[in-house]
Amino acid sequence: MRILVVGSGGREHALASAAARSDAVSRVFALPGREGFRNVADVLGGGAPTIDSILAAARSVRADLTIVGPETPLVEGVADLFRSEGVPLFGPVAAAARLEGSKHFAKEVLEASGVPTARSVIVRRRGEIDDALRRIDLPAAVKADGLAAGKGVVIAREESAAREAVDRFLGDDRYDEKGVVVFEECLEGEELSLFALVSGRKYALFPTARDYKRIGDGGKGPNTGGMGAVTPVDRFGAPEAERIGETLFPPLLEELERRGILYEGILYAGIMLTAGGPMVLEFNCRFGDPEAQALLPHLAADAIPRFREVARGEWTDGPFEAAEGVSVCVVLAAHGYPGKPRTGDVIEGIDEAVGEGAVVFHAGTERAPGRWVTAGGRVLNVVAGGSNVAEARRNAYRAAGRIRFDGVRMRGDIGVAGVRG
Ligand code: AMP
Ligand code: GLY
Repeated sequence: MRILVVGSGGREHALASAAARSDAVSRVFALPGREGFRNVADVLGGGAPTIDSILAAARSVRADLTIVGPETPLVEGVADLFRSEGVPLFGPVAAAARLEGSKHFAKEVLEASGVPTARSVIVRRRGEIDDALRRIDLPAAVKADGLAAGKGVVIAREESAAREAVDRFLGDDRYDEKGVVVFEECLEGEELSLFALVSGRKYALFPTARDYKRIGDGGKGPNTGGMGAVTPVDRFGAPEAERIGETLFPPLLEELERRGILYEGILYAGIMLTAGGPMVLEFNCRFGDPEAQALLPHLAADAIPRFREVARGEWTDGPFEAAEGVSVCVVLAAHGYPGKPRTGDVIEGIDEAVGEGAVVFHAGTERAPGRWVTAGGRVLNVVAGGSNVAEARRNAYRAAGRIRFDGVRMRGDIGVAGVRG
């Protein structure tokens, strides 16, 4: 089978690598991909793809299956387009991807299905903030409605911060459904990323994962796209994952079906493990980045044939089992990240990191004559396994330490249980 992977980050390099390893796959293409993907894929290049350019590429490389990494094309309806043209694609249609595209919609579906989630009110006009402040205690999570690449959530501890966030989100037309803000109670606990392969009412869980979202050790500093990940999460093996999955996927998928929405693809539940049990913070319509980089190389069996089955409306029961031990992904970020990253710094030591037994995924690199240079905020992802988390961390950090570039930034506590992410 010929596979087209859409996207150009570390998650898509991990997807392309998983496809390249699959016995069912003869050739892998990446749109746009990046030079660093050439170890596993034919890189088609170009700018950010549109849903039309994705379809054109799938046709031109005669892809038997297109796998979409990022959310934007899914929310924009790439799966609907492929379906109407009879071209196979793995990923949800726009009506289903809306679970990620609109927090307001996700909240409505969560409430209708009775899945535990934070109490919230919708604010549509500035005047409604007073009512929201009366109904939800501070601190509150204030959320812009549309896709916001991690920048659409403010945890407001004071009334002034809550008002300021509501004003900004209501007045900012970068956010899709301008005029809608979700104002919700703040939940306390550890976060968990739970991924499922979904086809209608059927689902199969992946091993649990956790990402470390803030830039600094101990969860200090601003939010990022993700500075590292671990899988499986300490104390959350397959039985615990099944128990959590049972509290949310069956009622949610039933509610979607009731609304005439058929979800087919990866569904990512962002969960807070509160004292009162697991509660859903958000849904995403694709794999997490960087969770996928830790997770995909650590699966015991080939996932690609199951993605193809879902694209065909077929199904095999059973969860995705993890290989023995633990997998850790450390993100190497550029100087300035998560602000405007500096680019063009020369990178050395990638081969040495691979020589240490790690897998290295490219997220923000570029090829200059004879060398790699930085070309984005999150530059490289270094992934290593071990029989336990301590060993996986040692292996990942030993390999990550081999990679050098000016201004390199990484967290030192990826994989550690109990620290703030
Ligand atoms: P979201 O885009 O909804 O995933 O939010 C991004 C991040 O904001 C989450 O991963 C949490 O770290 C944080 N967050 C969102 N909602 C809440 C909440 N109700 N309570 C506490 N933290 C939250
Ligand atoms: N790791 C968080 C995300 O991909 O949204």
